[in-house]
Amino acid sequence: MTMTTNEIREAFLTYFEEKGHRRVDSAPLVPGNDPTLLFTNAGMVPFKDCFLGTEKRAYNRATSSQKCVRAGGKHNDLENVGYTARHHTFFEMLGNFSFGDYFKQDAIKFAWEFLTVTLGLPADKLWVTVHETDQEAEDIWFNEIGIDQQKFSRLGDKDNFWSMGDTGPCGPCSEIFYDHGERVEGGPPGSPDEDGDRYIEIWNLVFMQFNRDQAGNTTPLPKPSVDTGMGLERITAVMQSVHNNYEIDLFVTLIQFIADKINCKDISNQSLRVIADHIRSCSFLIIDGVLPGNEGRGYVLRRIIRRAIRHGNKLGVETSFFQ
Ligand code: ALA
Repeated sequence: MTMTTNEIREAFLTYFEEKGHRRVDSAPLVPGNDPTLLFTNAGMVPFKDCFLGTEKRAYNRATSSQKCVRAGGKHNDLENVGYTARHHTFFEMLGNFSFGDYFKQDAIKFAWEFLTVTLGLPADKLWVTVHETDQEAEDIWFNEIGIDQQKFSRLGDKDNFWSMGDTGPCGPCSEIFYDHGERVEGGPPGSPDEDGDRYIEIWNLVFMQFNRDQAGNTTPLPKPSVDTGMGLERITAVMQSVHNNYEIDLFVTLIQFIADKINCKDISNQSLRVIADHIRSCSFLIIDGVLPGNEGRGYVLRRIIRRAIRHGNKLGVETSFFQ
């Protein structure tokens, strides 16, 4: 039976609770501890100080489904939304975190077990990448997990080194991709046609090892740590056998509601997808205290609202409808 978005989120959090992780609520979209960031753009943001060793919590393993906005700032997907199968300004990131507790071996084992056993995805649909210098991660994938070495790539910093922003915790990463099959164009990670939609990154396992300062220098973190992120909407698309995130249960409901409101018959229209995405980011930003304005966060929110209205106009809706 197909799992709903809510069931997949719950399965993830339960799996990691059973592995000794504390289930932590999503933090607000406006980072409380970080003036360097516009918005919470990844699951690790609320835990930044735990990675740096400047904050101690009662647990050293955590799991969360963190609301994220990627608009403005380093990770900015705004202009892609509506034109690709999987970009969002707002999404939820499922993550498991180790603050100086387990490292590469368990991070890889947990991810593989969750995907292939809990979710039951066939191993031959998965493709793994590691940083080209990370022999340790490669050995774990080959010798302990036993993945198919034909479905594996070693890539450089551009793909397999993750940083939260210009400063902060960072490290090499190992990514897991899902192969949506031959009917979709595109090649595996690292190939000339990797930008196609066939192989979709579903989970990023970051081996947090460094802190980058404003001058760009990196120093080792007090203890090697783990930060992982899996887009809830992407993994749901895989589990619901649809190729486009906007076809999952969560978006279909939203898009159908909008289509009914404005009397639009073509529910695959890209503008409906843009509006559905932008309504989510606008609503959650406003709930978390951001208001439209002329600068900073407020300006990003204003741009998202304007873009949604422009797409409403494209569908024949008068601007006055929104007032
Ligand atoms: N923080 C990592 C990411 O956002 C997991 O991809």
